[in-house]
Amino acid sequence: MIASYPALRMRRSRSSGWSRALHRETVLTPADLIWPLFVTEGAGVEEPVVSLPGVLRWSVDLVAERAREALALGIPCLALFPNTQPGRRSDDGMEALNPDNLMCRAIRAIKDACGDAIGVLTDVALDPYTAHGQDGLLDETGYVVNDATVDMLIGQSLNQAAAGADIIAPSDMMDGRIGAIREALEEEGHANIQIMSYAAKYASAFYGPFRDAVGSGGLLKGDKKTYQMDPANGEEALREVALDIAEGADSVMVKPGLPYLDIVRRVKERFEVPVFAYQVSGEYAMIEAAVAAGAGDREALVLETLTSFKRAGCSGVLTYHAPLAAKLLGA
Ligand code: PBG
Repeated sequence: MIASYPALRMRRSRSSGWSRALHRETVLTPADLIWPLFVTEGAGVEEPVVSLPGVLRWSVDLVAERAREALALGIPCLALFPNTQPGRRSDDGMEALNPDNLMCRAIRAIKDACGDAIGVLTDVALDPYTAHGQDGLLDETGYVVNDATVDMLIGQSLNQAAAGADIIAPSDMMDGRIGAIREALEEEGHANIQIMSYAAKYASAFYGPFRDAVGSGGLLKGDKKTYQMDPANGEEALREVALDIAEGADSVMVKPGLPYLDIVRRVKERFEVPVFAYQVSGEYAMIEAAVAAGAGDREALVLETLTSFKRAGCSGVLTYHAPLAAKLLGA
């Protein structure tokens, strides 16, 4: 039964700030945020990423400083992405298995700085390490092969786990990788290391600035459509998520974020598992471009979009605006 006007005036509950606070359904806090960081070689180095104004690549020592900053801001988790030196990229991406690669050194530096007070999520996929910029190994025709890639991803995951990663996050979209990685983690004594699967990851035009940030953009020929999903598909996302949950994913991710909130909602309603979304580089860049063009207020755009993720059903959001949002939300 719904009363009708004037017995019901929807504006009554909106008429003052205290009442809006009282009726608010969704609350965003710094604890909802995962901050993606780009790592580069050197010491004391901070390099701007041209296509991501305001985002920097940090050397390992400064990544550790960012971890302390995140902790102070109440951000519970960092996501790491390495900009591997060109000389260390190869067709087979072997640098992913090097225990002293940039990623592993960054993990150790964060753990030395903050211990278990902050979580470290590590991306599993070969694109920061391959000379061709694809997420997996190629056959003679240039097709990304599945099973041989999964073997590499297992090694990459164990390498990150040994360095101290808390959440392994495969972003590669190979079939069967979640089960294979889970089994390997269990065998190697990493029973408490979580897997957050990039379960519904779309072949999106919103990843361009990220590829600049990790240095794979210029290398990549073609696209990733033989493994990442068609943006037109929703049912397929539910199948991907079902498989990853069955294989042992602790949580699942939808990516990109804002254009795919319908997928977030469907996944949440269907599976009732923790769902995360990645507000990706192109989404960040769009907000910054709008601000630069005088078309919107940065703080308002950031808080509104991040709140929308939570309203859609997300447990948390990966966002380059994490430190700004955390400051605005007052840790
Ligand atoms: C790599 C990976 C990508 C992103 C996260 N992990 C790019 C891609 O798949 O090409 C994109 C993140 C962003 O755009 O912010 N597997």
